[in-house]
Amino acid sequence: MNMNKLVDSFGRQITYMRLAVTDRCNLRCTYCMPAAGANIVERKELLTFKEMYRITRVLTELGVNKVRLTGGEPFVRKDLMGFIKMMSYNDLLDEINITTNGAGIAKHVEELSKFKVKTVNLSLDSLSPEKFAKITRRDVFDEVWNTFELLEKSGLKLKLNVVVQSGVNTDEINDFVALTKDRNIEVRFIEEMPFNGVGKRAMDEVWNYTKILGEIKTGYPNIETLPLVKSSTSRLFKLEGAKGIVGIIPAYTRTICSDCNRIRLTSTGQLKNCLFDEGVYSIRDFIRNGASNEELKQLFIDLVSKKPKDGFVAEANRKKNKNVSESMSSIGG
Ligand code: 5AD
Ligand code: SF4
Repeated sequence: MNMNKLVDSFGRQITYMRLAVTDRCNLRCTYCMPAAGANIVERKELLTFKEMYRITRVLTELGVNKVRLTGGEPFVRKDLMGFIKMMSYNDLLDEINITTNGAGIAKHVEELSKFKVKTVNLSLDSLSPEKFAKITRRDVFDEVWNTFELLEKSGLKLKLNVVVQSGVNTDEINDFVALTKDRNIEVRFIEEMPFNGVGKRAMDEVWNYTKILGEIKTGYPNIETLPLVKSSTSRLFKLEGAKGIVGIIPAYTRTICSDCNRIRLTSTGQLKNCLFDEGVYSIRDFIRNGASNEELKQLFIDLVSKKPKDGFVAEANRKKNKNVSESMSSIGG
């Protein structure tokens, strides 16, 4: 085994880190947090940008070449652009991608492509301003739509994240599919998960991968299935002659774990080998206690070697909170 790489006991190599730069958010999406907001931690508990840079540098020396910035809402963290600029100096890093809700970021869109940012995933769960306001509990549809249009023109790769919510936006699935006809975007339908700060929500029907695809096929029976992309979380489809593509992410049914290439770092510096584990180690405390980069490297190699086989094993291994219920804003979507 190459000791300078992150390889787990199933032979999966880690090349991708999702980094939550904050646990705070300017929206209150119903599937993510309660109306009063998720519990946020004190600022000193959050990793500093310097700490994030250092951790990322060590990980890139171990073969990670892509980082996705998430949150919370990444742009809520003060001077995110400064951080993106700083991260872009890391010559071992090929891509910095961002997941954002698009509220209040229009002014940053132009600058993003100057750095290593390649792809932006924009959350947009409804095309109706009223419904959007109900889902996000904030009246920001026009702002987000404006950001969408700016991103579309920007030359950055654009993906729309649509969390499929039973009884809320399932009637819009094929409107979203239609957006791909003349736009070079990827519309991704995500199975809803219980990461909302409360736990399981009442759902009339379970909108899993199969049901979502079935719905798409009622509108577009001839939609083409594209070949699988290794380590991709989505299964891809394309309408004939369309500029864009459609993806479905089996986030909850977890049929994509066997070639997982990712780890996560929460905003407080907890390493997560899997979205469904409860955090395996405080990287923050390890470095605040004076660890060297060599020690940090060895720690990552050891921790990643224990990455669970899949999201079901990770969930079963949880000790403190048996049921997955923490808010996505603290985990880093
Ligand atoms: N289920 C599925 N996806 C979720 N996200 C946030 N909470 C949930 C949930 N409970 C998604 C958001 C965003 C990404 C960061 O995570 O839609 O696109
Ligand atoms: Fe904020 Fe994203 Fe959670 Fe919505 S889903 S409240 S935008 S972190």
